[in-house]
Amino acid sequence: MSTSINLDIDTAEVNHAEPDALPYLGFSDSNMALNQMLKITEDLRHVYQEKKEALLATNAAHHEVLMRLAMAAEFRDEDTGVHIIRIGYMAEKLSLLLGQSEEFGFMIRLAAPMHDVGKIGIPDSILKKPGKLDPDERVIMDTHSEIGYKILANSSVPLFQLAATVALTHHEKFDGTGYPNKSVGKNIAVAGRIVALIDFFDALTMDRCYRKSFSDDVAMEMVLEQKSKHFDPEIVDVFLANIDEFIALRQRINLNPINYAQLINYSLETFNAELRTQPAV
Ligand SMILES: [Fe+2]
Repeated sequence: MSTSINLDIDTAEVNHAEPDALPYLGFSDSNMALNQMLKITEDLRHVYQEKKEALLATNAAHHEVLMRLAMAAEFRDEDTGVHIIRIGYMAEKLSLLLGQSEEFGFMIRLAAPMHDVGKIGIPDSILKKPGKLDPDERVIMDTHSEIGYKILANSSVPLFQLAATVALTHHEKFDGTGYPNKSVGKNIAVAGRIVALIDFFDALTMDRCYRKSFSDDVAMEMVLEQKSKHFDPEIVDVFLANIDEFIALRQRINLNPINYAQLINYSLETFNAELRTQPAV
């Protein structure tokens, strides 16, 4: 799929004028007029091309800023940035399985890695504590969703808007017991409901500073146990029905971790094609 978003100028057309369109001019005059029109046409094409390239560069800059924000948060929390790469692709895959558009899938691939960007504002003594947080520490830790929202919100860029939504809503729970707003059910943005499940599953199956990883089977049981509680039941069903594909995708990313620039251009379809021709171990 294309990596650009809504480049309306792609549809701009400039029609060539034909000599027949100039019946009242003599041959040399019409030739001159035609040449002038062709030159104007060429100039316009040049301007459109420059604008298109400028928009592409702007989009690329937006993506890069988001990725670097994600890196800043991730490097404070974990030793590796692969977790947020996995979150991006698995959120995209789940979105497509749920019937979301390819454009939404692409956007959430880039926005989902931002979900914990607010951890930039959490003290190391809490963020890296090798044990359970006490109630006061938990209150501070839970502010990371609102901090992330404040970092990303009020942008005119759709990608930032989606990233802000994900940051704010990824700890809401379907039954209304989440935070920060105790939103309920479908009132929680679908992007938040998707990232909540993907983040939960991926975090369970990786080592953390305070515990070892859970097996996939145990993690799946924990997801199922939270159906209609923490997670949207429809999303749980679709995720678990396709769990083998998610695990294969995760293993593929782990075997060949891509960098942040590649996250923009390395499509989910590319991973899927690799999985078809060279199944992950
Ligand atoms: Fe979080």
